[in-house]
Amino acid sequence: MNSSTGTPNSHQLADRKIQHLELAQKSQTDKFGLDSRFNYEPLFYAHESQGDWKTSFLGHELDFPLWVSSMTGGTVLAQTINQNLSRLVGKYRLGMGLGSCRPLLESDDRLKDFDLRRNLSDSPFFANLGVAQVEELLDQGKVHLIHEMVKRIEADGLIIHINPLQEWFQPEGDKFKKSPLVTLKNFLETAKYSVIVKEVGQGMGPKSMKALMDLPIAGIEFGAFGGTNFSLLENLRSDQANNKESLIHVGHTAREMVSFVNALGNHNKEIIISGGIKSPLDAFELLNLCQSRSLVGMAYAFLKPASESFEVLENFYLSFRDAMLTARGLLEIKGE
Ligand SMILES: Cc1cc2nc3c(=O)[nH]c(=O)nc-3n(C[C@H](O)[C@H](O)[C@H](O)COP(=O)(O)O)c2cc1C
Repeated sequence: MNSSTGTPNSHQLADRKIQHLELAQKSQTDKFGLDSRFNYEPLFYAHESQGDWKTSFLGHELDFPLWVSSMTGGTVLAQTINQNLSRLVGKYRLGMGLGSCRPLLESDDRLKDFDLRRNLSDSPFFANLGVAQVEELLDQGKVHLIHEMVKRIEADGLIIHINPLQEWFQPEGDKFKKSPLVTLKNFLETAKYSVIVKEVGQGMGPKSMKALMDLPIAGIEFGAFGGTNFSLLENLRSDQANNKESLIHVGHTAREMVSFVNALGNHNKEIIISGGIKSPLDAFELLNLCQSRSLVGMAYAFLKPASESFEVLENFYLSFRDAMLTARGLLEIKGE
């Protein structure tokens, strides 16, 4: 490389040509490998004018439309994972939901796993509980414990996960006495902060989505089918044949759920499109299709890099962002 101009010298050019000849054989595609969701428009793009993708979510300014979806706390490994995730979210102004904060209802022994506000600056940060715990605390007249917990960790609000299939599959799962809709209505009468409602890998159908739109909640996170699935996970924990397996595969993909939201027309909810988002192109496509104010959320995709180190996680995020920005410059969604 010529250090003053950045231009490769003749040796480097020759080396590259040899590599091209060697690799061409391994670089054959066929037409069935085409990702046909997009029109590719190379004439309107320059690498150096890629720009940014700032947005806002529930009144917070974000540098990029990405959300770290709820993952569990309550273990030593979770503490490292949560520290890395919250540092990323704070540094790059993203958003984050915690995993279930149930341990905090009983004691502050695991407060360190969840006490992340100092890493997050003013990024949106939400506590998390299952609807079964919300129902139980309402029944016991102890709903104030939830409000105190949200305040203690300086969260902007609470995510309530609705997971009837997971509870059904879980050998020691909680059984709901009331429908989640009734529990949510009762809870919302007592909450003075933003509430988001989500599934955990099955998604939700159009009637449930419509019912959520009619509640005084701030947002909906899909937790759609196609990625991590807690019915499957809980079934793997039970070692007996139980005739339950076929129910693992029911639910709705994120793409289908975007259609449900679009069909519902005007509403005031903000949306986290999550569940099975595995690539920057999925994220780019769904954000473009969704007609509501929305972010893309991922859980599992962040888990492995966050378990390794902050640097690995940061590289994962930066390359994901770079690919989404490149997609935005070069691709258009084909009409349906
Ligand atoms: C290790 C792990 C733990 C999770 N724990 C929670 C939780 O405590 N509360 C919750 O609402 N969702 C939880 N989820 C579900 C995710 O928030 C998300 O809805 C689901 O994993 C689908 O997204 P994905 O396909 O990107 O993983 C967890 C997911 C993972 C992978």
